[in-house]
Amino acid sequence: MNSASAALPAITLINLMTDTKLNLSNVNLQKVPAHVAIIMDGNGRWAQARGMERSAGHVEGVNTVRRITEIASEIGVKYLTLYAFSTENWNRPADEVDALMNLIVMAIERETPDLIANNVALEMIGDMERLPEFARERLGRCIEQTSHCTGLRLVLALSYSSRWEITRAARLLAEKVKEGTLLPEQITPERFSSALATANYPDPDLLIRTGGDQRISNFLLWQIAYAEIIVVDTFWPDFSKQQFVDAIARFQNRERRFGLTSQQLTDNPGDNLLS
Ligand code: FPP
Repeated sequence: MNSASAALPAITLINLMTDTKLNLSNVNLQKVPAHVAIIMDGNGRWAQARGMERSAGHVEGVNTVRRITEIASEIGVKYLTLYAFSTENWNRPADEVDALMNLIVMAIERETPDLIANNVALEMIGDMERLPEFARERLGRCIEQTSHCTGLRLVLALSYSSRWEITRAARLLAEKVKEGTLLPEQITPERFSSALATANYPDPDLLIRTGGDQRISNFLLWQIAYAEIIVVDTFWPDFSKQQFVDAIARFQNRERRFGLTSQQLTDNPGDNLLS
C-alpha cells in the first residue's frame, strides 16, 4: 500500500485493504484525478456474445455502474461522469429505449439509499425535457434525496450530447447579447464553459471508454480538450475495479503538457495553459 494512502479516511482504507482482489501498488492515492468521465460501451455486444438479448447487457451494466462508483468513491475521485444515454440513443428501437429508461430509473432508485449511506451526490446533465415524465420525476427525487451528500459527485449524462449542449450554450449567450446584457467580446472560453450543462464541474482529467472503439461519440467535446483518453477493449459489463484502478495508474504515468513543452513543465511545475 502506498504511504500516500494515509491521507484517506480510515473507513476507506479498511475497505481498500480488505479487498484482497485489488492491487493498488501502481497507483498514487494522493494524485487521483479529480474528474473521471466514462463512455460505458459494449453492453449490447457483451449480451450478444452470450446469445442473450441486448437488454441483458444493460442489466449487467448496472452492476458495473455500482462497482465503479464504489471504487471511484473509495479512492477519492471527486466527480464521476457516466454517459448513460445519448441524444442519439433515442433513435434505437423503441423497446430497447423503453427497457433502458426503465432500467436506469429502477436502478437509480434502488441504489439511492446506498448512495446516501456512502455520501455520494447524484446529479444529471442532459436534455431532461426529452425524458418521459415518470423518469424525470423519479430521477429528480433521487437527485433531491442525495443533494446533501458531500462526497463523490456521480453525474449521469442522460439524454445528453455535446452538440445539443454546445448549441444550447450558444443560444443562451446569443439571447443575452440580443437583450443587451452581454457584449460579444465578453464571450470568452470561461464564459462559454459556464453556459454549458457542466458549469459546476471541472473539466475531466481522464476519459475512459470501454468496448474498444476509439471515438468520442458526442460526449463532452468541449470539456475533454486536455483530458487523457484511455480505451479498454473490455465490454462495460466486465469492466472491473482493478481495471479502473489500472486506468488511473496509466493516467498518472502520462505527462500532461497542456500545450507546453516538457522543459517548461520541469522548470515551472504546476504551470499549464489553463491557469
Ligand atoms: C452502451 O452499450 C451503453 C448504453 C447505451 C447504456 C449504458 C447504460 C447502462 C450501463 C445501464 C444503467 C445505467 C445507470 C446509470 C444505472 P451499447 O448498447 O452501445 O453496446 P454495444 O456497443 O455493444 O452495442
